[in-house]
Amino acid sequence: MFKNLTYEVSEGIATITFIREKALNALNNETVNELEKAISRIKEEKVRVLVFKGKGRAFIAGADITEFKGRTTAETKAFSLVLQRVLNEIELLPIPVIASINGFCLGGGNELAMACDLRIASTKALFGQPEIKLGIIPGAGGTQRLPRLVGKTVAKEIIFLGDNISPERALSIGLVNKVVKPEELDSAVSELAKRLAKGPGFALAQAKEAIDRGSEMSWLDAIQMESNIFSLCFSHEDMNEGVSAFLEKRKAQFK
Ligand code: COA
Repeated sequence: MFKNLTYEVSEGIATITFIREKALNALNNETVNELEKAISRIKEEKVRVLVFKGKGRAFIAGADITEFKGRTTAETKAFSLVLQRVLNEIELLPIPVIASINGFCLGGGNELAMACDLRIASTKALFGQPEIKLGIIPGAGGTQRLPRLVGKTVAKEIIFLGDNISPERALSIGLVNKVVKPEELDSAVSELAKRLAKGPGFALAQAKEAIDRGSEMSWLDAIQMESNIFSLCFSHEDMNEGVSAFLEKRKAQFK
């Protein structure tokens, strides 16, 4: 059904793999359109976790530069808005989203990874926002998500210089959750995805919303929202099961 990516669901875990291997999975218009269609399938199906992967040497080496030349300001704005919309859709999914980062994770690739909830990297991964070297800036949320994740000081260094960031540095600045050997990446991601898929889906969705929305609110509004969501969890069957399992000294079985 798709040319530039594959979409598979197994045991409640959806995996979207970018397969435009020859172009290091660069995001051209066609891939972005396919990605948006795949995301809408996730919304329709009963998926509990989403994983993004890249085939070959790259996760995603950025937006497709071969489509840049001759683009008008209006066309560029439209491309940026579409990519921003798709990444927002990923961020707003009410399920945990994991980026499994095998290699180059540059420009739009890093922007997509930052729209995910968790990022696991191989020691072969390389991160960066190299747009400045092309005389442009990140246009898929990078100037906004990067400082929110790593702070303005480090974000300005990464965006101003455009240099590649090693996985070790990515870990130390909080850009990724974990770095593993290349041969361990699939199993580390699969273990994490399976654990999340077995978790209390409602509470996970609420935790995601509280963290993401709360960080954009005033402190008082944010903690008020937390109280509302916290109390909402008490009316859900997941809470009944979680608390009953604790009191009965057994493992919780969330539906
Ligand atoms: N857009 C379009 N094509 C890209 C691309 C991108 N962002 N990144 C890589 N490719 C293509 C290359 O043009 C090359 O195609 P070719 O075989 O037809 O010549 C192929 O992918 C392999 O890349 P290559 O540069 O030969 O591999 P490398 O190992 O020497 O370098 C990178 C890898 C990622 C360092 C290098 O490709 C690069 O700098 N890419 C651009 C990264 C970037 O600026 N991203 C932000 C865009 S806004």
